Amino acid sequence: MIVVLNFGSQFAHLIARRVRDLGVKAEILPFDTPAKHILTFKPAGIIFSGGPASVLEKRSPRPARGVFHLGIPILGICYGEQVMAEMLGGKVSAGLRREFGKEMLVIGRKGELFNGLGKNEVVWFSHGDQVVKIPKGFVRFASTHDCSNAAIADKTLNFYGIQFHPEVTHTKNGTKILSNFLFNICHAKKDWRVADLKKNLIGVFKNHIGSDHVLVGISGGVDSLVAATVLHKAIGSQLHAVFVDTGLLRENEARDAALSLRAQGFQNLRVMPAEAVFLRRLCGVQDPEQKRKIIGHTFIKIFERVAKREFRRYPIKYFAQGTIYPDRIESAEPSRHASKIKSHHNLTLPEKLDFEIIEPLRDLYKDEVRRLGLLMNLPKNLLWRHPFPGPGLAVRIVGEVTRERLKILREADAIYLQELQRANEYDKIWQAFAVLLPLKTVGVMGDARTYEYIVSLRAVDSIDGMSADWHKMPQDLLERISSRIVREVRGVNRVLYDITQKPPATIEYE
Ligand code: XMP
Repeated sequence: MIVVLNFGSQFAHLIARRVRDLGVKAEILPFDTPAKHILTFKPAGIIFSGGPASVLEKRSPRPARGVFHLGIPILGICYGEQVMAEMLGGKVSAGLRREFGKEMLVIGRKGELFNGLGKNEVVWFSHGDQVVKIPKGFVRFASTHDCSNAAIADKTLNFYGIQFHPEVTHTKNGTKILSNFLFNICHAKKDWRVADLKKNLIGVFKNHIGSDHVLVGISGGVDSLVAATVLHKAIGSQLHAVFVDTGLLRENEARDAALSLRAQGFQNLRVMPAEAVFLRRLCGVQDPEQKRKIIGHTFIKIFERVAKREFRRYPIKYFAQGTIYPDRIESAEPSRHASKIKSHHNLTLPEKLDFEIIEPLRDLYKDEVRRLGLLMNLPKNLLWRHPFPGPGLAVRIVGEVTRERLKILREADAIYLQELQRANEYDKIWQAFAVLLPLKTVGVMGDARTYEYIVSLRAVDSIDGMSADWHKMPQDLLERISSRIVREVRGVNRVLYDITQKPPATIEYE
């Protein structure tokens, strides 16, 4: 496996994903993880991610010095190159011209890292500083017009530094560079395959759970569906699936998920209608964080009650969740270098729980979860659904959630998604949904004045939800969606299209 030390880069997940796509497991760790702890993962190589800091600033993030004494190959990317060069005796300074975007890399020596590449390669830069003096023992491999040390290496120690980003698609042969690092330099084994994962996961959970019983919460989203299916294959009727219908789901969502689980042969599946409880607890609550916490706690409370009441005959020892790798990484270390933006629904658990938690998908990225689902014969249309947040439509109604508002939003959202599917636009978008802005504005319909709510349409292109761009939607499609919503949904007389990127806006509204 490969350890990615994260220096605060928005691309750390992208690096890990690229490594996994090449068939090698990657684990992201905080930049200052002690060398001893890194060794416990037995990595074949270490990658230093980029990051927004400058090594010229006091207290900029540094890896533990011991990392350089492990005898393990290191690839430093961008800030990662600079911090490595600086700590090993080189010098970094603010570049004359800041390089952002595509640049032409001129490769002087290919070595193992650039094996198979041309003499000139298009690469992607995003940093102001650069290495101006390389450490002793290092040689220069490549440069650009404004950056003479765009690639450096100490071939004896197997330390490599590149100023550009091989993980982004703008670097045309980036995957080849990463592959060279993994297989020519680290001699990593290609053993991270979703087909093997399926077998391993089922085996591991069969052993771990033994004859105990497990409760799993189905939320309607892809992750909990796949997690439940893995567990069902491992322990069959010892799995008790509960679908809490919070009343905060999209149209037909509870029904579709229940149907597909029944088709999988789930014996123990309960659908708990709980809309009334959720709406009562959310009554009068405006604050987004408060809403998220109430929903998370109510969810768990209902599970505990179900576990006690419905399964008295089977003592439930474990509670399974569909937490995936990015959820876990983001909740573990937002502390020092990022502020908390939102509480994640899956993770706002009360401290005292009656069961132990298991997370079958805790090491997987979304695309790996989907491929796993396909291998277990789950329907493609459910697996490739856009992500849906745990707190559901509650975070897509700004302010108080009421039954009337939910009904309006559900109808508008269904029209929106239906039109996207019809126009073959749905699969081009990473996530699309409608949002209700319960602000009334004046309109005119027929000859009468209307005074109704606003619906905002959000559609974003993204890789992992960490950053996102608004989707450039065909205008005729937008027009069709807008006129259908205003015509067909009672309570809405105005439709907006959201053209904000993340950052600065988040994808969801709360
Ligand atoms: P934001 O709004 O933070 O969303 O830009 C990024 C991605 O995360 C999803 N999201 C959640 N998913 N529980 C989830 O399972 C949550 O509480 C939650 N909040 C946001 C959001 O839909 C988007 O895909």
